[in-house]
Parts: sequence; C-alpha cells; structure tokens
Amino acid sequence: MQGFSSAPVAEGPILDVHADGLKQVWRWGAVIALGGFLFGYDTGVISGALLFIKKDFHLDAFQQGSLVSVLLLGAMAGALSAGRLGSRLGRRRTLGLEGVVFLVGTAIAVASSGYAMLLVARVVLGWGVGAASATVPVYLSEMSPPRTRGRVLTMNQLLITIGILVAYLVNVVFSASEDWRAMFACGAVPALGLALGSLWVPESPAWEIGHGRVEQARATIASVSGPARAEEVIAGSKPVKETLDQEALARSTGWHALLEVPIRPALTVGLTLAAVQQFGGINTIIYYAPTIMQKTGLSASSSIAYSVAIGVINFVMTVVAIRLVDRVGRRRLLLVSLFGMFLTLALLGLTFATSVASVLSLVAMVAYICAFAVGLGPVFWVLIGEIFPARVKSVGSAAATTVNWLSNFVVSLVFLSVANAIGQGETFWLFAVVCAGGLWFVDRFVPETRDREFAEIEGDLDKRFGRRERILPARPG
Ligand code: BGC
Repeated sequence: MQGFSSAPVAEGPILDVHADGLKQVWRWGAVIALGGFLFGYDTGVISGALLFIKKDFHLDAFQQGSLVSVLLLGAMAGALSAGRLGSRLGRRRTLGLEGVVFLVGTAIAVASSGYAMLLVARVVLGWGVGAASATVPVYLSEMSPPRTRGRVLTMNQLLITIGILVAYLVNVVFSASEDWRAMFACGAVPALGLALGSLWVPESPAWEIGHGRVEQARATIASVSGPARAEEVIAGSKPVKETLDQEALARSTGWHALLEVPIRPALTVGLTLAAVQQFGGINTIIYYAPTIMQKTGLSASSSIAYSVAIGVINFVMTVVAIRLVDRVGRRRLLLVSLFGMFLTLALLGLTFATSVASVLSLVAMVAYICAFAVGLGPVFWVLIGEIFPARVKSVGSAAATTVNWLSNFVVSLVFLSVANAIGQGETFWLFAVVCAGGLWFVDRFVPETRDREFAEIEGDLDKRFGRRERILPARPG
C-alpha cells in the first residue's frame, strides 16, 4: 500500500470559499469555538466559587488546592482521549460528546453535597475542558480556507479569554449572595449550546474524505466553495478507504503514527510550544494575580477588580492578534510576543527582587499579559491545528494539548513553593529564561504557516530540522 500520508486534498479540502461561504465558515467556527469558551469558563469560575465553597464545606488548604488542580488532571486525560475519539468518531460527534460531558460535570457540581462529589465534578469538567481544547483547533483548521485560517483559529483563544472574563463577572454577580452553585450552573448554557450546536455543524470534510464518506464531504465543500470547486477537490483526493483497511487506517491515524520519522519535526514543534506556553508563567499571573497584587500593597477588593482588568486586557489583545495573525504571520507574532514576555518578566522579577514592588510591577504585569495575548496565547492553538498532516492531526493536537495541561499542572503545583524557596522575583526570572529559550526555538524551528498549504509547511519544517528529503514511512501491512 502506498502513499497514504501524501493524500494532498485531505489536508484541507476547503481551499477557497465564496463570500456567503466565508460567512458560513465563521458561523461554524463560532459554534465550534464554544468549546474554547467552556475551557475559559470552567478554568476561571473556581477562583471566585472557591471562596464560598470553602466556607460551606469547611475545606482546608489542601482540599481547596485539590479542587483547583484536579481539573488540570482531568484535562490531561480528556486531551489524551480526544485524539483517538476525533480520529474514530469524527470531529463533530467528539465535540457533541464533549458538550454532554460539560453538562454532566456542571450538574454534578451544582448538586454537590460535599467535597468528594465536587472533586468528581471538577474531574469530569476537566475532562471536557481538555478534550475540547484538543478537538477545537483541529476542527476549526479543517473547516477554514488557508487565507482566513489564522483568524478562525484565533477565535478559539478569543473565546477562551471571553470565557475567563465571563466567569470573573459571574463570580462578581453571585458573590453578594455567596451562591457558588449558581456560578457553576451558568456554565450549562454554553455547554448546551455546544451539544446542540454540534448537531448543526457539518462533519469535517477532511475527516470524511479520510473515511471514504466522499458524498457528504462533497456536499459540505460545495456549500461554501460551490459545486464546481467541490467536484475538483473531490476528484483530486485519494480514495483513502479503498487503499487502507480499517486496521491499517487505525494504525496510521493512531498514537504511534506520531513517532514516524516524517512526523517528528511537527511533533517537536507542537510539544515544545505547549511547554513554553505554560512554563512562561502565564497562569501564575492569570490565577495568582490578586495574590501578587496584594504584595504590591493593594487591598484585597481592588486586587479582585484588577484581575477583572487583566481579563479585559487579555481579551482586547487577543482581538488585536486576530487582526494581525493572517497579515503579519505566526512567526513574527510569536517572536515579538516571546521577546516582550522576556523583557516584562525580567522587569517584574527586578521589582520584586529589589523589593520596590509597586506601580512598576503592575505596569510590567499588564505589559506581560499584552505580550502573551498578542502572540504565544493564540498562536500556540493556531499552530497545533496547522502543523500536523491530516491523518495525524487529531492525535498530534491531542499530544500537544496534553503536554500543555501537564505543564500547566506542574507550574501551578510548584509555583508557590518555588517562590517561597528562591523568592518571587527570582521565580519570574526563571520564567524569563524559558521565554528566552522559546525565542531561540521559534526562530530556529517554527515554520511560517500563514496562507500556506500543508505541503509547503511540511517542506519548511524539513528544512528547519535539517532534512532534505521526505522519506515516506513503510506502509503497515
Ligand atoms: C492558555 C491557558 C491560559 C489562557 C489565558 C491559553 O492560551 O493555554 O493556559 O489560561 O491562554 O488566556
């Protein structure tokens, strides 16, 4: 059996779209990116809810911490399962399943009678968050034409930031009544939207072509590109199902396919960026912002107000990223972003290490969020939807997402202890060093993907990793 990995059309069968088709792509994207909203909402809601849960259930420090971090463990499991699910069930059904899981997790949280039940709810919600974060970039990437792919994919991060922000606001609204159950319950609305929306969005034509469902793929492509273009695309695609039996199909789209030599450069880029995104310290700022700010002398209540402000800035700068990502490209955004993060972290570290933490620390924190939100935040999620070839897109994205959640978990677990041991300022310097390393890595190894079809991206990756020719893997069976 020959050349499965080179089925060119299946990389992204929606190559160009007419004006109405473009609107349709955005509508599909908005529904799919609800997965991103739930990611932001369910990770953000706990910060406010916890204040009241701990009172109701008399939780000690460990129990409180576990309610926060167990979501990250659930997310790792979710991201891991999403790869296989996305390849087997298809993107649409996987997304629908995730919507249902969000609903179930929310119901358990709202009905929780004690700590243990709430812990279970957080694991279930975490599973949904992780699985959605792996599925959404792949699905969005496959539903959009190369010209607008960056913008459509950035919508994921935009909805993550909106989700975080809405969670903060919901927390503010219900904090007067101390109603943490209502805080969780609000998450049911987008979860229902995702579950129902998945019935409306068409299945990814790339997945359908890959599974021999050519007629359905043709109809979807025709609805945005016109029947003639759909015909051309379908005629140029390889009848994958005819060349591979079920078992070989599963093998060539499964986890171990990621270790094939030709896939390794993309895998290296995906996993490294996943780790850099978290070890650059973003969530210590997002989630510990009030604590950090109190150290600069602010009162608790103005610290919470400042964290809403951080959420707004995060969102606004992601809007800026949407405007830039298809114009200036991914690489430039990443380089500027990492450089900015490096500088602002170095400054933040300095203000803490020299105990002059003050307005300058706040300025550095805000500038750091801006630098992250305009580049590394969205572009990581854009790239993991773009750098893997179609047949391993689902597992590739899942692997990168799992490493992202694992790194998030490690950072949140050790951040406070490291800060206590070596000093807060010095900890920020550690993050700065990670950003400097990230800068070098991006400059050397990350290909530009803007307006490129997959073959070009693959060629660029090969060049950067010092490989001249693409060696096709031996076909299974
Ligand atoms: C990161 C999250 C982070 C969020 C903040 C995302 O890109 O993956 O860990 O909380 O950005 O906006």
